Formats: sequence, structure tokens, C-alpha cells
Amino acid sequence: MSTYASSLQDAQKRIEHLRKEIEHHRFLYYTLSAPDLSDAEFDALYHELEDLETRYPDLITEDSPTQKVGAVPSTDFKEVRHKIAMLSLSNAMSETDLEHWQDRLVKALDGEIEPTDLKYVVEHKIDGLSIALTYEDGVLVRGATRGNGESGEDVTGNLKTIKGLPIKLKPVPIRDDGTFALDDDKCPSRMPRSIEVRGEVYMPISSFSELNQGLIEENGQGFANPRNAASGSLRQKDPRVTAKRKLAVWTYFIYILDPELKAPASQYQNMRLLQALGLPVEPNRRLVDDLDGIKQFIDEWSVTRHGLDYQTDGVVVKLDDRTIWTRLGATSHSPRWAIAYKYPPEEAETRVLDIVFDVGRTGAVTPTAMLDPVKLAGTTVKRATLHNADQIKRLDVRIGDTVLVRKAGEIIPEIVCVKFDKRPADSSPFVYASTCPACGSQLIKANDEVVLRCLNYYNCPAQKTRRLIHWVSREALDIEGVGESLIADLVAKEMVSTPADFYELTADRLLTLERMGKKSAQNILDALQASKTRTLAQFIFGLGIRHVGASTADLLANHFGSLEALSAAAALGEDDLSNAQAIAGIGPVTWKNVVEFFALEQNRHLLARLRELGVEPVSVDAGANRDLPQTLAGMSFVITGTLNSIDRLEAEKAIKARGGKASGSVSKKTTYLVVGDSPGSKLAKAQELGITIIDEAAFLELLA
Ligand code: IVH
Repeated sequence: MSTYASSLQDAQKRIEHLRKEIEHHRFLYYTLSAPDLSDAEFDALYHELEDLETRYPDLITEDSPTQKVGAVPSTDFKEVRHKIAMLSLSNAMSETDLEHWQDRLVKALDGEIEPTDLKYVVEHKIDGLSIALTYEDGVLVRGATRGNGESGEDVTGNLKTIKGLPIKLKPVPIRDDGTFALDDDKCPSRMPRSIEVRGEVYMPISSFSELNQGLIEENGQGFANPRNAASGSLRQKDPRVTAKRKLAVWTYFIYILDPELKAPASQYQNMRLLQALGLPVEPNRRLVDDLDGIKQFIDEWSVTRHGLDYQTDGVVVKLDDRTIWTRLGATSHSPRWAIAYKYPPEEAETRVLDIVFDVGRTGAVTPTAMLDPVKLAGTTVKRATLHNADQIKRLDVRIGDTVLVRKAGEIIPEIVCVKFDKRPADSSPFVYASTCPACGSQLIKANDEVVLRCLNYYNCPAQKTRRLIHWVSREALDIEGVGESLIADLVAKEMVSTPADFYELTADRLLTLERMGKKSAQNILDALQASKTRTLAQFIFGLGIRHVGASTADLLANHFGSLEALSAAAALGEDDLSNAQAIAGIGPVTWKNVVEFFALEQNRHLLARLRELGVEPVSVDAGANRDLPQTLAGMSFVITGTLNSIDRLEAEKAIKARGGKASGSVSKKTTYLVVGDSPGSKLAKAQELGITIIDEAAFLELLA
């Protein structure tokens, strides 16, 4: 056999193997939202296949994953055919790949255009899931996922629950000749008849952390990263579940389908048009003149992107001039006029020093790997979550193993895989805990849960401590100066066991603690006193009822108005769902937990004691004092760094109480950036956008 023939056969075998693997992982990723390869590992498989197919073009088949986009749509939603196929983008893995892309462009344009004549729009590549939105006469009539690129799933109902996504657009200035006149305020405005908008649905990192914390506490399992959380949340059968998940959208492309209108001449104008229509557009896009401009954007953002509240996995570079697009055309997979530059994977290798168990406030026992500290995405990582026993088994991770760690959602590091070739010879499989590490009681797996639980609810010191930490947390009773280590001390000395015990502490008793001075003791007592009149929602959240997160607590507080009314409704029993069903978003499982909580003697006793001790939640948010003059109405504030005289949450409450808006990220709409000590990347961003920057003193003056 000739060498060519044998290598052709080898290539054929390898290609078939790679195709199967890629299809399998695409199915896990797109359809099940549960990938088990890192992005970098998946990309490596895909690139190997692409390379082999370039070397052996005869082996390319129509059904090869390189010739198709995305994966099969899941069957739960109605299928919709896209009016315009949803293409993907080709990738650039390095700056050299970007240079080659530009060379190809210049070549394809046959020397008609000099590289110096090309302009590019550089945008963040949002790591979410792409959607197509159809607006007719300015009204959102359909939204679909990408699916296989030709047809996707109709998720209109779920998309409509996303707060930042307008269901109705704003009219825009249009001239008689059908061109848009965004800079001409004299030109009359009207609504385009038919447009299709492309964008990315994502879960803000802050919402992701909150959601996952709850899910892990409840089920011992959360989403692997914000993208999976977004995908899982958008594809919920019940839109009320999606509504609770706090998704967001950035839009980045528009097709004008109204034959009487003329599409803007460039991508930059496209983005302005999207914004003028009232659609959310990521604010950091930039129009640049050349490759250097693209590289500069990448350099500037490769680290600072971690300060954004959404994950980006690269930048998308688009040729600005629309007339060139049609001349360049597209492959079956992607348009030639755009490319996605992917950041190198942020993964690091380290060793597992130990595997320890944490006990949550509802008794969920979850494992954490203690790591040899390693630098990753700008921080030092010392711990990685392992979620549950199933995950440890699946990864087969053991103490002493070398592992690959990655950050999911920028915050929680996780173990991607074990480097088996580096496993020590004397390693033995990890034995999962069977008893509670805090109280020694037998761990139980309830019903179909993945998580093991310690059922010693009232006496397990770890559960007590966690519940107390939850009670003092910001979203609950917001008790400043009472932190984890103080609570651990108080529990160890048996001075506090339930939230009510906090309110019986005296200065003398506090002073028996080590390192406690008179002033700190008084501050603690003052903070406890102040916490007696928090809102009803904060109080309900603070009780730590399973499944009752901050937003559910809000719903319950708004619906019932008082603790008495809530407990009276709960006393009717779990079969009496009428009350719960009347509150959109509260399902039978949550209600069952509420009923069980109020049925327990110990809990009723706790509530009675709290009342006796003067803890009286108020139904209306005291922060939103309606009597205050609305001096900050129409203004939007962002705070960065630490303020000295007021903490961030209080500052935000004060802004809202005066009619202003407090936001987490700087955009063109920001009126003031308030800068405290050690400000973050928001400062640079505000400077770039020309936002007014004020210090703490100026801020306090505005409040006064
Ligand atoms: S443009 C024809 N712009 O990345 C227009 N895509 O790898 C194609 N994505 O399928 C998309 N941020 O889901 C574009 N600023 C951005 C993007 C973006 C994220 C996603 C999108 C696309 C995928 C390609």
C-alpha cells in the first residue's frame, strides 16, 4: 500500500472518530446544556477535524460537523424556521490568525480596496446563546434560539420575561427615501414595519452566583457556568421560572426586512440604530481603523473583561462597510466579513491537597477541593467546588491528583479534569463522607436528590452557624459587624443558637469574648437594634426556608403583607394551594416548604420569641421612604471602590429612596460614577465614556 493510501485510511478513521466525538459533545452542550469537555478541549477536536479535512478535501462529507452549524433543536418547543439562516463565525485563535483573515479579505476584494481603506467594529463576544428576534410594527412577535442554524426553538414567551428586552420598540427618524436619519432631530420618527434582530441572551454573573448558590444548597448541583444557566433558564417550559432567573440580552445585528427601508450603511450605524430602537447594546464596542486598533482592544480587555458582569470569551471583529459584505459573501458556516477572536483558555494546572466537606444551612453537605494556590484569570485560586458525590466519581478525583481548574462564571473555580498521567502510584479512590463532619450524624440521601444531608437540623453546630450567618447577611437582616468568625465564636460558647438569641446579647456577655472591646460590643448591639425593623421580605428571606430565595421572599411579602397573614395561610396546610398559586412564581414545592416551616414547633417558638424581643419587620421597604424629595430622579449612579461613611448597600438604598437609579455597570446612561477607595475597572470605563466622576464627599452632598 502506498504511504498516501495508508495515511488516507488513517485520516478517514480519525475523521470518523472526531466527527462522532464532536456530534456527541455538541449534543451535550447545546441540547442538554451539560458539557463535559472544556471549551479548549472541544476546540482542539474541532480544529483537528478541520485540519484533516483541509489536507484531505475528498473526505469532506455534507454531514460533517464542520459543514453544519449548531446542534439539533430540543423537542420541547415549537420548531421555527429562521427567515435568514443563523450563521456562526469562524475563529481566530491568535493575532496571526487575524492578520491572515485581513490578507484573505484584501485578496478576495481583488486589490480593489487597500487594507488602509477598511474599518472594523470590534465588539465583545458575549458568552451566552444566540437568539433571533422578529419585530413587526415595533412589537416583538417571535424569538427563537439558533438550533441548527436553519431552524430553532420558539422561545417567545420566555424571552418576553426578560426585563431589559423591549416588547415594544421606539420609533426612529426615517427620511422619505427610506434611509435612517439618526442624527437629524427634525426628521419625523416612525416604526420600521419588519425587522429581525440578532443578539445574545446571557445570565449576568451576579445573577448566576446567586442562582447557583441556591441551587447547590438545595440540590447539591448548580449550573456549570453562566452560559449553561442562561440556556437552561431560557428553555424552561414554565415562563415564570425563566422570569425568576434574571436573564439579560445584548443585541448586535439587525436585518431590515421592510422593503421600503434602506439598511444602514455600516455595522457601526447598525448598532446605533439598535440602540435608538430601544434595544440593549453592549456599550464597549469600538470603531477602529486597522489591525492595530483591533489588537489594542484585545490587549485592553483581555484582563479588564473580568470586571464586566457578563462573560465574554473573545471579541467579534466585523468589517464596518456593509457594501463590502455582499461582495465577500459567506461560507455555509460563517460570513467572511466577520471573525471571532477567542481568548486563550483560562485554565491552570494544580494539585488537590485535600477534599473537605461544608455543611449548608439546610443540612446539604457539599465537597470542596483544597488546591495548591494557583493564579487564574487575575486571582489566586485555593479552592474548587466539587458539587457532589456523583461529580467526584465522574471525575475520579483523588487527594494528591494533578488537575486542570477553570473558572465558571468568573467566580467559582471548578475542576475540569484529572491529569491521570500525573497520578501518584500510591493513590487510592476518594471515600465520600457518610457522617456529618460537624456533628457526626449519619448523612441521608432524600428521595431523588443528589445531595447528602445532615438531618440534625436543630443541633448540628454547622447548620446553626450557617443559618445565623444567613440571618445577618446583607439581603436578610443586614447586621453589620456580625460576621462569620464572631458567629462561630458565639455558637462555640453556646451564647447564640437561634437568631432570637442575638437579641438577648448584652455588652457584658459580648465582652467575655476574646478580642472584643467596649466600642465593638456597643456597635454590635446598635446594629442588632437597627435590624429589628427590616422589611418583611428581608425577614422572610432571613428565616432560611428551603426554596425561598430573596425574590420568592419578596413575592411572599408583597402578597401577604404581614408575617401573621403568611403564617395563617401556611397553617391551612400544603394542600391548600390557592394562596400560593395566587402568587405568580410560587410553585407547590416552595409552598410545601413554607407550610412545613411554619408547622414546626421550634420555628413557631422562634417567631414568637423574635416578636417578644421586638423584632418587628415592616411591610413597606423603609429604604424607599416615599416622603423624601425625589432629588435624584432621572439620574443613574454607579459606585466603585469602598466608601468610608456609608456602605454600598445603604448608599444604593439612599439613591433609590431619592428617586435615582443605582446600577452595577457603567454605561453611557450613567450620570455619576462615585469613586471610593481602591476603585475597580469601572473608573477607566467611565473616563473613556466621559462620565462625571465624583468622590464620596460630593456624593454625600448630593444625598443631603
Ligand atoms: S455576530 C452574522 N456579534 O458568537 C452575525 N456574534 O461564534 C453573526 N456572539 O453565533 C454573529 N457576541 O452567538 C456576533 N458581538 C457579537 C457576538 C456574537 C457573541 C456569538 C453568536 C454567534 C457566535 C459565533
